[in-house]
Amino acid sequence: MGLHRSSRIAGLGRYVPRRVLTNADLERMVDTTDEWITVRTGIKERRVAAPEEATSDLALEAAREALERAGVDAADLDLILVGTASPDMIFPATACLVQERLGAKRAGAVDVSAACSSFVYALGLAHAQIVAGLAERVLVVGADTLSRITNWKDRATCVLFGDSAGAAVVVPSDSQAGLLSFWLGADGGGSSLLSLPAGGSRLPASYETVERAQHYIHMNGPEVFKFASRIIPRAIEEACQRAGVSADEVDLFIPHQANVRIIQAAAERLRQPLEKFYVNVHKYGNTSSASVPVALYEAVEEGRVKPGDLVVLVAFGGGLTWASCALRWG
Ligand code: ACO
Repeated sequence: MGLHRSSRIAGLGRYVPRRVLTNADLERMVDTTDEWITVRTGIKERRVAAPEEATSDLALEAAREALERAGVDAADLDLILVGTASPDMIFPATACLVQERLGAKRAGAVDVSAACSSFVYALGLAHAQIVAGLAERVLVVGADTLSRITNWKDRATCVLFGDSAGAAVVVPSDSQAGLLSFWLGADGGGSSLLSLPAGGSRLPASYETVERAQHYIHMNGPEVFKFASRIIPRAIEEACQRAGVSADEVDLFIPHQANVRIIQAAAERLRQPLEKFYVNVHKYGNTSSASVPVALYEAVEEGRVKPGDLVVLVAFGGGLTWASCALRWG
């Protein structure tokens, strides 16, 4: 392989909790309507984890499927990266909990925290480990249980999110197929636009922080919307340029599933047909770190991604962060 060592996804996995929460259900919980949610976001329903399910449980299910499909034994993993904004605990890392339950005794394990961009960020870090020859088999998971950090009394946010997990096993590639390029970006100047203010070292948990609802997601929706519509086309173009391809050559774009209007705005700016953008936000809402791997999994299952296809993954989220990846499926 020598200088041409690259990496590829050898198997994908997905887990979505069984419980479905529809817009009609939300109409009974907050002052909202199915029509408002559908028109403003494209979301019809989302999944909510069972009370006994935490992020590591979702991650574990997705990881097991990805390992099985890749034909990789957990004991042979070198590294486990879990992208999440809703870890089981502040520490230990959710990746360590997954490592133990998989029996991945040889693997290092660490979480990647880039809000909704976490999975694509982690995929980029996995790729770099493999290209550098530091790892042979890396498990990358995107898992979130945002229902646990959502303020169910705030109609501006609680209608948007859902729970799920997606996973990929990344291995070396010696063919044309594989991960071709990455762009990992951030703008900490926008850190206050999307955050969970309390429970860290800045505002430790106290009666006051609970009373002020500071343990929930706080979001400036319109500003995040503007940022997302701007950054998705830029991140797609950058990933294409780094891979030496044009956006016209791309068979399918797999964007973070936050809001169908954001995807429409991005497609218009890029002058690409909306049909080239995979959308499943109507089924799951915004599942944060899980959104891109679950969408990739479903696109492959539905035959929308075939061997040899050029695909671009693109995510954005709190941080602010963004991440894009061009890949040749195979
Ligand atoms: N039901 C009914 N009315 C509502 C609801 C609701 N669920 N939520 C807000 N409204 C009202 C508002 O109060 C407002 O009323 P007003 O005009 O009387 O003040 C009106 O609807 C319009 O509100 P806006 O916030 O301006 O609506 P907008 O069209 O911007 O849509 C939305 C809001 C859907 C949140 C949009 O801004 C958005 O999608 N932003 C991006 C969010 C996002 O992607 N976040 C995730 C980033 S990834 C991560 O890291 C988690």
